[in-house]
Amino acid sequence: MRVSCSATSEKGSCLIVMVSKKGLEKKLSSPISRLSDRVMREKLFKAEQNETLFLPCVRLSNYEHLLLVGLGEPKEMSPENFRQAAAAAYKQLEQHSLSSAEIDLSLCVSLLKNTSALVQAIREGLTLSCYNFEDLKAIKADKKSVKKIVLTGIKPTSEIKTILETGQILAESTNFARWLADHPANLMTPSVLAQEVQKKFRDIKGTQVNVWNKERIKKEKMGGVLGVSLGSSQDPRVIIIEYKGHNQNKSPRPLCFVGKGLTFDSGGISIKPSKNMDEMKFDMCGSVAVIGALLAIARLKLKVNVIGIMGATENMPGASAIKPGDVLTARNGKTMEVLNTDAEGRLVLADLLSYVSEKKPEFIVDAATLTGAVVVALGNVYTGLFTRNQSLEKQIRSAAACSEEKIWPLPLDHFHVKDIKSKVADVANISSTPGAGSSTAAAFLEHFVDKNIPWAHLDIAGTAYNVSNRLPYCRPKSASGVMVRTFVELARQYVR
Ligand code: BES
Ligand code: MG
Ligand code: ZN
Repeated sequence: MRVSCSATSEKGSCLIVMVSKKGLEKKLSSPISRLSDRVMREKLFKAEQNETLFLPCVRLSNYEHLLLVGLGEPKEMSPENFRQAAAAAYKQLEQHSLSSAEIDLSLCVSLLKNTSALVQAIREGLTLSCYNFEDLKAIKADKKSVKKIVLTGIKPTSEIKTILETGQILAESTNFARWLADHPANLMTPSVLAQEVQKKFRDIKGTQVNVWNKERIKKEKMGGVLGVSLGSSQDPRVIIIEYKGHNQNKSPRPLCFVGKGLTFDSGGISIKPSKNMDEMKFDMCGSVAVIGALLAIARLKLKVNVIGIMGATENMPGASAIKPGDVLTARNGKTMEVLNTDAEGRLVLADLLSYVSEKKPEFIVDAATLTGAVVVALGNVYTGLFTRNQSLEKQIRSAAACSEEKIWPLPLDHFHVKDIKSKVADVANISSTPGAGSSTAAAFLEHFVDKNIPWAHLDIAGTAYNVSNRLPYCRPKSASGVMVRTFVELARQYVR
């Protein structure tokens, strides 16, 4: 889909107008604002956030159709209102098989101080909405796709053109992340994931991808990744993406992103109930967030050095599977007692966190669909944030405020560390007491991070998929690509 910007109206099939609850500016007494006033007065349209009113064949100012999209309360406006309104508009275009439209921004730019942020959000909302996972349908739906959107009513300065491209890169990278995770587990095995990453990054300047197979994983002493993979016929992979955007001699320390990449989590011997088990193909969403973020950072050519590492494996109850009570040794030499084979994500992350700790990074941030407990605590709205480093916490919350992906801090302290003591090993993979399952999981991970490195853990179990009920630019039963945009914003803070 092409999204361009033009100062003057192009006239065509459909005009989109975004309206706040106070209506369009009174001074514009055009036929369009008169019509919008009238439908609002008659309560046919209240301009609630994402509410739409499609008026076909009105033939106003040379447009065939008019589409009104609500922005909600004018006093509480942020770019997210426009991101969502753009998605609501896109859905209407799709529904009415319209392949092109114009959005007249002159009628809504005054609602937000930061025009660039508004334009970027609209670009993101549109591009995120055009993602749909239909690769596997042999019989393709016979519908027209939206091909072209023109934004009018603002000056197409070079700054606006750049910001449009930034929004496009962020949304396309998120869509790539979604596409990887939306594949069923039989088609997106650890080896396929590694191949897809290699294929994607082949032409991305400044990046290098390394893939470790089972032998190499063994040699690198990654007992957690290896252990989790043993019950599956699919061999594991560790995928490392390096981006060097800083080409000065005194290259700064790398930023490290770590992702859980369970291409399927059956629970292993501690097997999960069958209800919704299909959703465990999404247990790789931490790793796709890292992949998407690296893709965007490299395409935006940010002047930073970044390492992304993913542990890709299945968790299956095969004959060689690890059993409750087994003890595994992680890369840093610590032993882990596996009291529940379904708490596998932390076993995989243990090795990855130890590995990146050796790289003397600026920070380590991991993303993982780690616990059902975080879904209980925060639902599908907020991602859980765990860290003891206040400065990193501030940076992440400010990055998330920028991207408008919601994050909420949850506790991690010595109580949680106590709860995962093991009788036979250095640490147990589940808590000895009920409750606070997301915090004890974070306490487990902490064992594998060098104490001198700022580290934060993001539990995305609630936000990684099935979020279409609250975000109109996400599809039902599909991955959201959450944290791609936030990770890019975080990296941006280190550009110098
Ligand atoms: N992948 C799951 C967590 C999960 C649950 C993700 C729901 C998305 C939705 C993880 O591997 C897991 O099974 N965690 C267990 C840990 C428990 C055994 C301590 C859980 O949360 O039940
Ligand atoms: Mg599990
Ligand atoms: Zn899992």
